[in-house]
Amino acid sequence: PSYYRTDSILTLRTSGGNHVTVKIVKVFTPFSRSQVALVRTTEGLRDLPPLFIIKTFDPRFYVTRFNRKGVNVWPWSLQAEADAEALRRRGTPKQWQYDLPDKGDLVGWEQYCYQRMDYDFSNEVKAYDRLQHFQGDHIPSFYGEAELVTTDVKRAIVPRTLLIEYIPDALPIHKINKELITPTLAKSFLTLIKSFHACGVVHNDLHRGNILVAGGSKNDQTRAVFIDFGEACLREDETEEEWAATVRFCGDTKCMLRQLQECLGTD
Ligand SMILES: Nc1ncnc2c1ncn2[C@@H]1O[C@H](COP(=O)(O)OP(=O)(O)O)[C@@H](O)[C@H]1O
Ligand SMILES: [Mg+2]
Repeated sequence: PSYYRTDSILTLRTSGGNHVTVKIVKVFTPFSRSQVALVRTTEGLRDLPPLFIIKTFDPRFYVTRFNRKGVNVWPWSLQAEADAEALRRRGTPKQWQYDLPDKGDLVGWEQYCYQRMDYDFSNEVKAYDRLQHFQGDHIPSFYGEAELVTTDVKRAIVPRTLLIEYIPDALPIHKINKELITPTLAKSFLTLIKSFHACGVVHNDLHRGNILVAGGSKNDQTRAVFIDFGEACLREDETEEEWAATVRFCGDTKCMLRQLQECLGTD
């Protein structure tokens, strides 16, 4: 939409109810599940740095609406969104949570997209919370959540957004000079993944775009930074054995090894 452009001004409503205006510095396109942008605050704020990332989970732009050729096969409509929202508020959803709706079921489809976005959003919030200890080093700091008030059409819902630390000098793992991936750094990727598991978080989406290396452009110490916990698998009441089985099943370690092998061209 028109408001996801460089220099657009967006209004956010923070969880404390305050309105914050920000200006878009960069949009990270193409969008996949969420809509990510780097923004600058136009006013000095106590709890937020001048530059940060917003990651919005708007069901209207959910990736599954588009086919491989980029055609919007499940167009959004206000009517369907409003009907789906009315059902949600009444606590009478039309269908089982994550089943794909029937063809032509526009309200079911809105409900589906909303639930998927809601799930990804909550997952990411919970993962940041459980991985608090790694924030600012190996995952970005998490500043909180907000609602994206700015819109170009009338809406029945207000999309939610995450406010996240911007990692300025980070590149995805396949884009950095492979000499920077020393054995120590390579090992740290795997150790970190295992420490996340021990905190009850399996990343579950370790493609190269979600594995960043920071500090590589300067003479700084390079370090691994993981982003994008929307698909994370979170430990609930699993026993040690059950959790170990989930961790194995999701295959974070295998994915991480494969990424390292592809980048380094060795075993
Ligand atoms: N904290 C961050 N610092 C710098 N760039 C980021 C940050 N978060 C996201 N990005 C950029 O935005 C892209 C999409 O973000 P991501 O969280 O992976 O969203 P999605 O769930 O849509 O894949 C990333 O591949 C990265 O280029
Ligand atoms: Mg991603």
